[in-house]
Amino acid sequence: MDLGLADRVYVLTGASGGLGFATAEQLVADGARVVISSRVPERVAAAVEALGGPERVIGLTADLTDAGTPERLVAAAREQFGRLDGALISVGGPPRGTAAQVTDEQWRESFETVFLGSVRTARTVAAALADGGAIGLVLSTSVRSPLPGLGISNGLRPGLAGVAKDLADEHGPRGVRVVSLLPGRIMTDRNRELLAASGDAERARAEAEASIPLGRIGDPAEFGRVAAFLLSPAAGYVTGVTVPVDGGALRGL
Ligand SMILES: NC(=O)c1ccc[n+]([C@@H]2O[C@H](COP(=O)([O-])OP(=O)(O)OC[C@H]3O[C@@H](n4cnc5c(N)ncnc54)[C@H](OP(=O)(O)O)[C@@H]3O)[C@@H](O)[C@H]2O)c1
Repeated sequence: MDLGLADRVYVLTGASGGLGFATAEQLVADGARVVISSRVPERVAAAVEALGGPERVIGLTADLTDAGTPERLVAAAREQFGRLDGALISVGGPPRGTAAQVTDEQWRESFETVFLGSVRTARTVAAALADGGAIGLVLSTSVRSPLPGLGISNGLRPGLAGVAKDLADEHGPRGVRVVSLLPGRIMTDRNRELLAASGDAERARAEAEASIPLGRIGDPAEFGRVAAFLLSPAAGYVTGVTVPVDGGALRGL
């Protein structure tokens, strides 16, 4: 199947590593060009290099918390590649702790980054897209079912899925799609950190895998392929949905 990605242009946040990088890899492999971004310049530069260099990939040091980040991303895509077809919005996960344990300051910081940073980027990119454009928000299975010990994720992600649906309604008539992706357990640095934080990473991994019908933690490329498909013209009639990539872990149908 031709996904129709050749020469299309996407901006990706939180893309020097993890799920953002894995999605960039798949987009580029299918002929797209990308503007990747994250906070740490060395990580951005290494990711650009790993993705094949400036002909198809440019990097921007940009924090999702900064109000100017979305406009910079849109401008970079247009200046470098002359068009913009969509975005993947990912960001580092919020701090661990139950909803009762985390401090006001942690709630506020997470709201600024995970919530408002994502909303701002989604609405700015949506307004900049023409017919055929698409946006994917990287959320979590916590949108549908709360995760133990991740109170901020449980609090903020469902709201972001609601925002994505709202944007999908508003921009749908212009042919612009907005979807939410719900990763379960995918083996990125974030997941390694969460497993290590349990105090016994091997045991935590075995327990996690026992609760996943496919019996294993996912590979980042398995997430990246789903995200690249949903952003591509091949998914042209898919919008306003939440798509789990979780090995079957969610219990709801
Ligand atoms: N992996 C999973 O299994 C899983 C499951 C459920 C939900 N999620 C969620 O999916 C998202 C991505 O997870 P991941 O596994 O890819 O995490 P990751 O491996 O920690 O990668 C996070 C990426 O985001 C960048 N980043 C962090 N904070 C940023 C900010 N404020 N502005 C811009 N970029 C930022 C990081 O680079 P810099 O350090 O250079 O900024 C890095 O490139 C997270 O929100 C996570 O909670 C992941």
